[in-house]
Amino acid sequence: MDERILDEHEHGDEASLELSLRPVKLSQYIGQHAIKENLNVFIKAAKMREEALDHVILHGPPGLGKTTLANIIAAEMDVNIKTTSGPAIERAGDLAAILSSLEPGDVLFIDEIHRIPRVVEEVLYSAMEDFFIDIVIGSGDEVRSIRIDLPPFTLVGATTRFGSLSAPLRDRFGVQLRLEYYDLESLKHIIERTADIFEVTLPLDSMNELARRSRGTPRIANRLLRRVRDFSMVKEEDEITLETTNHALKVLEVDPEGLEPVDHKIMRTIIETYGGGPVGLETVAVSIGEEVVTLNDVYEPYLIQRGFLERTPRGRKATAKSFEYFKDSKTN
Ligand code: ADE
Repeated sequence: MDERILDEHEHGDEASLELSLRPVKLSQYIGQHAIKENLNVFIKAAKMREEALDHVILHGPPGLGKTTLANIIAAEMDVNIKTTSGPAIERAGDLAAILSSLEPGDVLFIDEIHRIPRVVEEVLYSAMEDFFIDIVIGSGDEVRSIRIDLPPFTLVGATTRFGSLSAPLRDRFGVQLRLEYYDLESLKHIIERTADIFEVTLPLDSMNELARRSRGTPRIANRLLRRVRDFSMVKEEDEITLETTNHALKVLEVDPEGLEPVDHKIMRTIIETYGGGPVGLETVAVSIGEEVVTLNDVYEPYLIQRGFLERTPRGRKATAKSFEYFKDSKTN
C-alpha cells in the first residue's frame, strides 16, 4: 500500500513522543466525560452483539485528542486500525485499496475527513451503509463497474469542521461526538501524567500556571511542558520552578490567558483598525497575513470560548472584555 495514503502523518521526534504520551485505554483517557461514558456503552454493546461498532465522527478544535480516541476505540474493540487522512485519498481507487485491506470489525480512521474529494465521498456512502463499493474500470466502450463486498468495519472520522461535511456523509455516522476544551482540573491531570512519563518534578504552582496557559488543549499543554522542561534542565534545577515556568512562557510568547502573538494580532486588528468590528474574517486574515481556515479553525474557537470574540452575521466583533484586556497589552 502507498505510504502516502496510509499512516502518512506523524513524523519527527516530537510527533512520536506525542504518540507515546497517548493513553491506550479509555480508562486512562482524562476528561471529556460525556464522550467516555457514551463510547463505553456503545463499545460494550457492539462487543456483546459481536458486531462492528457503528461509524463514529469526532469533531472539535485541533489538539483535543481525536486521533487518540480513534486509537482507543480500536484498542477497546480489540481490532486493527488503519489510519489515513482526507487529503491523502485522492481517487476512488485509493479508498477501494484501503477498504479491501480491512478485516471484519477493523477501524478505518480518516483524519480531516472534511477534505476528502467529492468522488471519494460518493464511494464512501455505500461502503458505510451496506459494506460494498462499486468501482468503475476501463474507459470509452469498455467501461464497466465491478462490485466489491467489504467486511463490516467501523469508520472513525475526525474533523475540525463538522459544518463542512455534506449532510449525506454526516448522517451516515451513527455516533457523533463533539470534543470540548478541557477544564483546568483535567489539564492539570494530563500535565501531571506527562511529567511522570518525563520523570520530572513539577510543583503544583508550575502545573497550575501551565494548565492556565494551555488553551484547554492537551497538545499545547504537553508542548509547553516540553519547552519549560528544556529551560529547567539547562538551569540544572531539581524541579521545574514557577520562576522558570513563567520565564519560559514569556520567551515563548504565551500570555497569562494562553494567547499567542497571532491571537493578539487578530484582536488588535479588530479593535484598533476596525473600531471593534463587525469586520469580515477574510479582511482580518489579509490584514495579519494568515489563512482564513487557520483563523477559523485554530484561533477563533478559543477566543470565542474565552469571551474575547463574537461571531455575528455581519462579521467578527470584539467584546467589552476584549477592549479591556487588549487596551494596553503589547504583543505579549
Ligand atoms: N494526553 C493527551 N490527551 C490526553 C487525555 N485526554 N488523557 C490522557 N492523556 C492525554
